[in-house]
Amino acid sequence: MLVTGREILQDAHKNNYAVGAFNVNNMEIVQAIIEAAEETNSPVILQASQGGLKYAGVEYIAGLGKIAAYNAKVPVALHLDHGTDFDQVMLCIRHGFTSVMIDGSRFELDENIAITKKVIEVAHAVGVSVEAELGKIGGTEDHITVDERDVTFTDPEEAKRFVEETNVDYLAIAVGTAHGLYKGEPKLDFDRIKTIKEITGIPLVLHGSSGVPEESIKKAVSLGINKINIDTDLRVAFAAAIKDFLKENPDNIDPRKILGPAKYAMKEAVMEKMHLFGSVGRA
Ligand code: 13P
Repeated sequence: MLVTGREILQDAHKNNYAVGAFNVNNMEIVQAIIEAAEETNSPVILQASQGGLKYAGVEYIAGLGKIAAYNAKVPVALHLDHGTDFDQVMLCIRHGFTSVMIDGSRFELDENIAITKKVIEVAHAVGVSVEAELGKIGGTEDHITVDERDVTFTDPEEAKRFVEETNVDYLAIAVGTAHGLYKGEPKLDFDRIKTIKEITGIPLVLHGSSGVPEESIKKAVSLGINKINIDTDLRVAFAAAIKDFLKENPDNIDPRKILGPAKYAMKEAVMEKMHLFGSVGRA
């Protein structure tokens, strides 16, 4: 069933677990994630990145996501990841997204608050949930790169003001993760997560969660992270399965045969994450 992000994340917030938000770009990826969610009886968030929207187009992403959600027995939210501006967010709402992110983290605090409030006024009026970002998360996601020198951890006092003034549904925070593949082991600022949770009292979001050690993810969830964004780890599983299949079957030209094992590998990877995040059996 298609539900709002708020509905999924309020339950996670109340019951102290996290829900995976997995990036989707095509039918096989959507199917892999939904099959994993159904098999583990887990709520799930399908999210479209800027690159995903460019690749497939908003109509296809929305169409695939909605069909998958309507047919699923588990709660599914369709989310816009790193929405760039007001118009893009409106476009996604118009196409049936039930959750949107407005990423104003590149602006100063006042401007970030202003753009987030503007989006929320419209989104909440039509029952769509909103995620915002405070602080600057490093790394590269599709074409958006934040240099290591520009990374700024989220300030708890600013987070308090941000949440009070915007009434945002969930907040992405910068606490040591980065988008894409890590060079070394990421070190999370757990005290900061704890403080921001206590001070804001809303669901918190962890971006760049691929490659973060399992123990760190578990601890982050126990301290108040409720939405965990995963893209890279699923790409790795998908690509490895295609490479293996073509190595074994170099003459095969059937896209269904080539993508089938990739879809299966991705489903397994998603199920592993769902167990780690604690969302299994929460649907
Ligand atoms: P990873 O690619 O590191 O999993 O990050 C995904 C993400 O945060 C999407 O917003």
